[in-house]
Amino acid sequence: MSFKFFESRHSFTKLMLFFTATVAFLFYLFNNVTLKSSELYTRFLRFGGDLEEMDPESEAYFVNTVGCKMPKFPIFDIHNQRFFTDPDGVHCNTSITASDRQYVWIRLNATELQTMYNVSDPSSLSCSYQSFRRKSDTWIKFLPEVTPIVFGQRHRVAAGEEFIKVTCNNLGLGEIYQDFHYFVPDRDPPGDAVPAASRRKANVIVIGIDSISRLNFRRQLQKSTHLLLEEMNAIEMEGYNKVGDNTYPNLIPVLSGLDAAELESVCLPLKNSTFDNCHFIWRNFARRGYLTAFAEDIGYLGLFNYFKKGFHNQPTDYYTRPIITAMERQIAYKKMGNVFLCYGSKTPFEILFDYINKFVRSLSQRQFFGFFWTSSFSHDYINMPKLIDGEIVNFLKQLREDNVLNDTVLILMSDHGLRWGSFRSTYQGMMEDRQPFMFTIFPKWFFTEFPRAMSNFRRNSRRLTSHFDLHEMLRDLSRLEQLEDVAVDVRTTDLTTAEPLPRGISPFLAIPPTRTCDAAGILPHWCTCHEKQTVPTIDQGVLRVARFVLRELNARLMGSPQCSKLHLNSILEATRATLTADAANKVPADSQMFDLTVRLRTKPGMAEFEATVRVKTDEDMELTGTVSRTNLYGRQSVCVNDPQLKLYCYCGRH
Ligand SMILES: *[C@@H]1O[C@H](CO)[C@@H](O)[C@H](O)[C@H]1NC(C)=O
Ligand SMILES: *[C@@H]1O[C@H](CO)[C@@H](O)[C@H](O)[C@H]1NC(C)=O
Ligand SMILES: *[C@@H]1O[C@H](CO)[C@@H](O)[C@H](O)[C@H]1NC(C)=O
Ligand SMILES: *[C@@H]1O[C@H](CO)[C@@H](O)[C@H](O)[C@H]1NC(C)=O
Ligand SMILES: *[C@@H]1O[C@H](CO)[C@@H](O)[C@H](O)[C@H]1NC(C)=O
Repeated sequence: MSFKFFESRHSFTKLMLFFTATVAFLFYLFNNVTLKSSELYTRFLRFGGDLEEMDPESEAYFVNTVGCKMPKFPIFDIHNQRFFTDPDGVHCNTSITASDRQYVWIRLNATELQTMYNVSDPSSLSCSYQSFRRKSDTWIKFLPEVTPIVFGQRHRVAAGEEFIKVTCNNLGLGEIYQDFHYFVPDRDPPGDAVPAASRRKANVIVIGIDSISRLNFRRQLQKSTHLLLEEMNAIEMEGYNKVGDNTYPNLIPVLSGLDAAELESVCLPLKNSTFDNCHFIWRNFARRGYLTAFAEDIGYLGLFNYFKKGFHNQPTDYYTRPIITAMERQIAYKKMGNVFLCYGSKTPFEILFDYINKFVRSLSQRQFFGFFWTSSFSHDYINMPKLIDGEIVNFLKQLREDNVLNDTVLILMSDHGLRWGSFRSTYQGMMEDRQPFMFTIFPKWFFTEFPRAMSNFRRNSRRLTSHFDLHEMLRDLSRLEQLEDVAVDVRTTDLTTAEPLPRGISPFLAIPPTRTCDAAGILPHWCTCHEKQTVPTIDQGVLRVARFVLRELNARLMGSPQCSKLHLNSILEATRATLTADAANKVPADSQMFDLTVRLRTKPGMAEFEATVRVKTDEDMELTGTVSRTNLYGRQSVCVNDPQLKLYCYCGRH
């Protein structure tokens, strides 16, 4: 079978035209570079010099740009699979009472009450509820009124009621049951709202799941991944890199645009300062007339409360800390690692997601912004998140069915990957710790209303990004007029001429491919882009890699006996790309991994090749892309037609 390089005269003409145009462009560029010095060239590099597009075959990197090469790892392979097992399920006790958006009632029937709670007759059971309010981040206060809950009746809670505590007594045996329920009462939107310039607004929901890396999300939450990417057109940030160690220094940038130290100097002047004077992103939304929420499922690990002073006044219109801490103190059990897995009859995760469901449905006639955070199933164990896969799928499907996603932008994210455990001590585990997941689902109309912003967003999914960018993204979502084409054009011009680049860049703008960790505010210690160093060509390791490349080349030439076997003539250059020494320091040396790029000359023919090899051990190596030919092959390979083989073949037996 002969390879038809030029299908017809027609495509040959097209190719010639393309070639001529390219030469003309390069000529133009060359002249401009010499005339107008480096400015144009810098722009070319920033916006056009994109390795990812130049080398679409390269599947070896999450991010492959001039400024950042972030090596890709497998979800499962023979090295890592032993860490991933099925976790045991979690079962909490059965509840006596239940609630929906407005009602509370006894959900068990007489038989169930008898068998589960030793209640001989429903008439001997007396349940009642009492409302409570937040007094501070640590204290709640109960209202005096006690309302009975009668067996067989649904009780509508008073308008405005937010949190209630239920207790049940069994006649003669005293209190047998406690439970908590929450509601999302409608409220007036903030009064001093600035009228929106844009025609439409979108609600914004951020749901964070603590300590899950991009790959662990795909590994543990396989059904969710499929639903998000295949059915809901979610866009995933594949080059999302953390900026600090644990939750706090990673979420402060999301919420404030500042790093933790900057926040402290701006609004936390004293050791005992609360966060009340800090400007968090929900204020941007409140100013535009949005109702706001902040909720976490674990109280004592609270973002603003774990060894911190919290808030004097509650920061958002809806704030679940009072009820979460009450549940944690009064009805929590099954402690595993740092967290309790049951609050009464539900897991903390179920409670948070149930709250989100009530929130979006109770406020369907309002504009809302919510920031929700769950740690209960992911904080401590790498395999536990598998248990919430099905529930997340149901949650997302329900939102879609109820049309919530028509006018809501939903962001799913994490702060970082898992920070401890046996997997964390491997090289891949160390990298995953630094690479949290981040997905966004946009309403369909975003793509037609904001074409440039959305096409930038898509492209940025393969750029280096961080929590600082998410902050800029949220700011943009609070004022959608910033996403219209005209605005995006102006902002793009500003960005192109900005020197230096801003630390946080909205993903609705074109993030320059030249962006480095340094420019993005990611310290070397957290940076998962590889750094390059030159290695002496006489190094034994370099020689091993060169021989490996030769074996690969010869293997490809095997089927073409008209080509000579290639031998190593010399190694011209070698560069090693690896994490900064600082980042890699806690990983055992024998599990270090690096990419070695060698340029070498072969004989016969004095061909020059360049290849990048991922070196795991002296024996375990693989090519990260194609082997490129870096000098002209001329007539050396007339004996083959395959364009790939033409690069490698030296015709004639030797
Ligand atoms: C859970 O149910 C079991 C059996 O009904 C009971 O013994 C236990 O006290 C309950 N635990 C909590 C925390 O309610
Ligand atoms: C009580 O509920 C159970 C299901 O949980 C059902 O099987 C049973 O028939 C019910 N009993 C009565 C008396 O309704
Ligand atoms: C169940 O209730 C009866 C009274 O109705 C009481 O005598 C008995 O001790 C209770 N059993 C348990 C396990 O609490
Ligand atoms: C905070 O500390 C300062 C001095 O360090 C003290 O004067 C002030 O009363 C404290 N405020 C609170 C709320 O504890
Ligand atoms: C949401 O979108 C669906 C399908 O496009 C449509 O049928 C429905 O009317 C929309 N709902 C709202 C509230 O816009």
